[in-house]
Amino acid sequence: MSQADFGRQEIDLAEYEMPGLMMMRRVYGPSKPLEGARIAGCLPLTIETAVLIETLQELGAEVQFCSSHAFGIQDHAMAALVKKGTGVYGWKGETDEEYVWCLDQTVYFPDGKPLNMILDTGGDLTSWVHEKHPDIISGIRGISEETTAGGITLNKLLKEGKLKAPVININDSVTKCKIDNIYGTRESLVDGIKRATDVMLAGKVCVVAGYGDVGKGAAQSLRGFGARVIVTEVDPINALQAAMEGYEVLTMQEAAVKGQIFVTTTGCTKVIRSEHMLAMPDNSILCNAGFFDTEIDVKWLKENAERVNIKPQVDRFKLSNGRHIILLAEGCMVNLGCANGQSSFVMSCSFTNQVLAQMQLWTKHEEYHVGIHRLSKKLDEEVAETHLDHIGVKLTKLDEEQAKYLGVPTNGPFKPEHYRY
Ligand SMILES: NC(=O)c1ccc[n+]([C@@H]2O[C@H](COP(=O)([O-])OP(=O)(O)OC[C@H]3O[C@@H](n4cnc5c(N)ncnc54)[C@H](O)[C@@H]3O)[C@@H](O)[C@H]2O)c1
Repeated sequence: MSQADFGRQEIDLAEYEMPGLMMMRRVYGPSKPLEGARIAGCLPLTIETAVLIETLQELGAEVQFCSSHAFGIQDHAMAALVKKGTGVYGWKGETDEEYVWCLDQTVYFPDGKPLNMILDTGGDLTSWVHEKHPDIISGIRGISEETTAGGITLNKLLKEGKLKAPVININDSVTKCKIDNIYGTRESLVDGIKRATDVMLAGKVCVVAGYGDVGKGAAQSLRGFGARVIVTEVDPINALQAAMEGYEVLTMQEAAVKGQIFVTTTGCTKVIRSEHMLAMPDNSILCNAGFFDTEIDVKWLKENAERVNIKPQVDRFKLSNGRHIILLAEGCMVNLGCANGQSSFVMSCSFTNQVLAQMQLWTKHEEYHVGIHRLSKKLDEEVAETHLDHIGVKLTKLDEEQAKYLGVPTNGPFKPEHYRY
């Protein structure tokens, strides 16, 4: 059996755990609402992304993708897509220069026409097209963005007056940020740490930097294994939440001397720096679950410590003080670098939002001005609902009297926009 055939079987298997995308195919496939759309995407090239790509194609779109992360690529799944004629650009361990080359390959399709829709994560493809291909921007109907980090990038572009197309940030859907970021990470973070190190978590002191959605999932999961978890935060609300959950909340300088495993989840930069690393116990394990690889100062580590590669994505560094640091996935997202990223079911929630966002922007583009939008609460609730059957959830229905009492329609939306879940 070839690599591609192996990938094909995994894609087919993942479909079973992606009920939202299968529903999109059943409901919208026949009418081909994305006909005419040339969607260029930038996401981790995983099995789940392959199911998303094939869903967009079934809805009528032409699609080509590149990888958003050098380690977030399952080569065999991509081989299976290529065998079926889909353009995908990226390979596991690609360099920064190769990444940029791959990104640029998605801009023009084989017939010479440029993309007219973008599906992005982290904002790189969006920024690239704005900077390097401004001539094609007027033809873009919309951009859907996947993650917290991309939201930050696109908000900066908007504030500077540089954003030139409407965006739907699907990370703002509750069925994305409160599901993928929390529960996806709750499983895939430890999967990555365990595959990389086989370390026993019980009894260890684990430091989680950031107690947002990803941090909450990380902390809960590590505690579930019996680790003693310390949290660091800059936001008093999140710090209070962490304390109320029973976590110790300290600064990184205080936590550095106590921790044995460190996980960054802040979406910020230089959260673990040289002064922290020099204070850590021998053989501390460092990894990052945030989007970009700058949360741990890997550059300093590489320049100032002796590196021994243990195996792919696991390096042990000897510091000037004689102690060692074990770095996973070179400071890139550990759940992608050392495991297979988020599970299919959770990606189904995220990617159903992506499909709905692409359809909204393509078919109702006149309703979206240049700016950053979110999907309606009604659609958000629908995404959740498409995932209930698969896990045997029985939903209670409001009757007319109850709905009137609460002041909501019997079929939703059930909550005001500001409700925080
Ligand atoms: N690994 C994955 O699969 C995965 C999944 C979803 C999101 N992400 C990425 O994870 C990152 C976090 O996402 P999120 O949705 O949890 O964001 P979030 O905004 O909900 O949480 C980040 C938290 O970090 C805190 N923080 C910021 N700077 C800090 C610092 N210097 N020290 C301590 N705390 C700090 C913030 O106050 C916030 O509470 C983003 O980069 C996002 O793109 C990764």
